[in-house]
Amino acid sequence: MKIAFLADIHSNWPALEAVLQHLKASRPDRVVVAGDTINRGPNPRRCLEKTLELAGQDGWLLMRGNHEDYVLHAPGRISQLRPWEQEVCAHTLWTHDHIRAYRDTIAAWPEHIELEGPDGGLIRVVHASMHGNRVGLYAFMDDAELHDKTAPGVPVLCAGHTHIPFIRWIGDRLILNAGAVGMPFDRDPRASYALISWTETGWKPEIVRVPYDQGETVRLYHETGYLANGGAMVPLILRELLESRSWLGPWHREYEPRVAAEEMTVADSVQAMIQSRT
Ligand SMILES: [Fe+2]
Repeated sequence: MKIAFLADIHSNWPALEAVLQHLKASRPDRVVVAGDTINRGPNPRRCLEKTLELAGQDGWLLMRGNHEDYVLHAPGRISQLRPWEQEVCAHTLWTHDHIRAYRDTIAAWPEHIELEGPDGGLIRVVHASMHGNRVGLYAFMDDAELHDKTAPGVPVLCAGHTHIPFIRWIGDRLILNAGAVGMPFDRDPRASYALISWTETGWKPEIVRVPYDQGETVRLYHETGYLANGGAMVPLILRELLESRSWLGPWHREYEPRVAAEEMTVADSVQAMIQSRT
């Protein structure tokens, strides 16, 4: 038995397409998509429709991540925000406009998925951790913290969310982070997914990295209108793609307080951040 875990596709069609090609060679029995299929990229509808097609055709299992929740709540929530906050969230409304027809489908996806291994042991898939879909698992966490964030313990737990893959054994427990298909944050631009294969001695885990044409994704930022119409933060999202590291997280920490205090506009903060980091 072989199970593939894909997470954080983030509307990156060329990256998803490359992983689909790779799956033809790795041939998993099941594929689970652990959330954040949409948002933060130029092709939300195409990525969504492909995963839905594979759910129907090959039994792929789909679930919500924090970005599905952001998108579903965007129309009601963003209109309540202050003008500068609306600018920051505009890219999520752009995504919503493109997947509007699938709102009910996405809302029905679960937050956790459980499978049973050949030995009867559970395999649990969550987007971030058991502490919620925004509380991630990192390789630097010690065993006690990983246990705490993945309790109640099951033999195998796989997550995404942080965009940084890892494999950790804690005794007989296996904890994996699949990394991100569409936007890795470990300075390696290749798409990332995880595979576990059942062997005579138990599960054999693997992080798979798949090269793809990132230039094609950049072209799609332009062709789809995402860069032109997706709002003030899209230039930073493009930097995340190009540099395989987080930009929005540091923006929220370093610049959001200054924008909130009306010391600078969102547009000025984006320019200042690009200048300071390049
Ligand atoms: Fe994500």
